[in-house]
Amino acid sequence: MKIAVLGKGKTGKEVIDLLQGHQITVFDRSNIPTLVKLKGHDVIISFLPGDVFMSIIPALVDSKIPVVCGSTGFEWPRTLNFKLKDQKIRWIYSSNFSLGMNLVQQMIITLNRAQKIFGEYQFSLHEVHHTQKMDAPSGTALSWKKWLNLPVDITHERTGDVIGFHELKLDTPNETITLSHNAKSRKIFAEGAVFAAKKLASDMTIPYGLNSFQDIISDELKFR
Ligand SMILES: NC(=O)c1ccc[n+]([C@@H]2O[C@H](COP(=O)([O-])OP(=O)(O)OC[C@H]3O[C@@H](n4cnc5c(N)ncnc54)[C@H](OP(=O)(O)O)[C@@H]3O)[C@@H](O)[C@H]2O)c1
Repeated sequence: MKIAVLGKGKTGKEVIDLLQGHQITVFDRSNIPTLVKLKGHDVIISFLPGDVFMSIIPALVDSKIPVVCGSTGFEWPRTLNFKLKDQKIRWIYSSNFSLGMNLVQQMIITLNRAQKIFGEYQFSLHEVHHTQKMDAPSGTALSWKKWLNLPVDITHERTGDVIGFHELKLDTPNETITLSHNAKSRKIFAEGAVFAAKKLASDMTIPYGLNSFQDIISDELKFR
């Protein structure tokens, strides 16, 4: 399997480490990914900044190569999913490729049921990341809000080299439930992204179009 790794920064370098022994091409500022250079790869993994990834989406679609997108902080073009389905191309995306995040998703879905039993309750979500993170709130915080599907105030903090900390709190007059996820190493994102890349290369039952990693893993764990 020939893999194109886009970005060799904090996260991309963990992907490169994990792919030791595989045939890989690394793209960065000194080796910009173009349609011609991407040709011949079986799968592409991106940990480029979101705006940079967004600018090369047309070339990625034209290449017809499956893409694992870890880049965050941009809006998906409205017509992209349709184009990918039309051209029978499979992509997997996630704002958080941690495999444990899927278990957290199920817990958040359970917390949604608070509305059935509590008359008075309030949710709050706090996320902490390193100072170079460009987007706020994080893509993961926005995913948690979507999974909760109830009003929640999101606050964020940028400090030191924090890889990613998310905490969801359910507060009622007489009890508090706190759910937190702390990323201890960027390897967790690399592991999930490489898992997704191998899946794209081997599992032809993955639907054409833009697939969320959560859906892929939920199918694997039979949560859906
Ligand atoms: N989905 C997830 O699980 C997850 C986890 C962590 C991070 N992320 C996201 O992944 C992205 C990257 O994060 P990071 O912390 O690894 O970033 P980073 O350390 O800043 O690395 C960025 C990489 O992109 C390359 N790059 C920047 N501009 C470029 C351009 N115009 N053309 C080609 N290459 C360019 C850089 O090249 P040089 O090496 O040449 O400077 C560098 O290798 C962010 O969007 C972040 O939010 C996602």
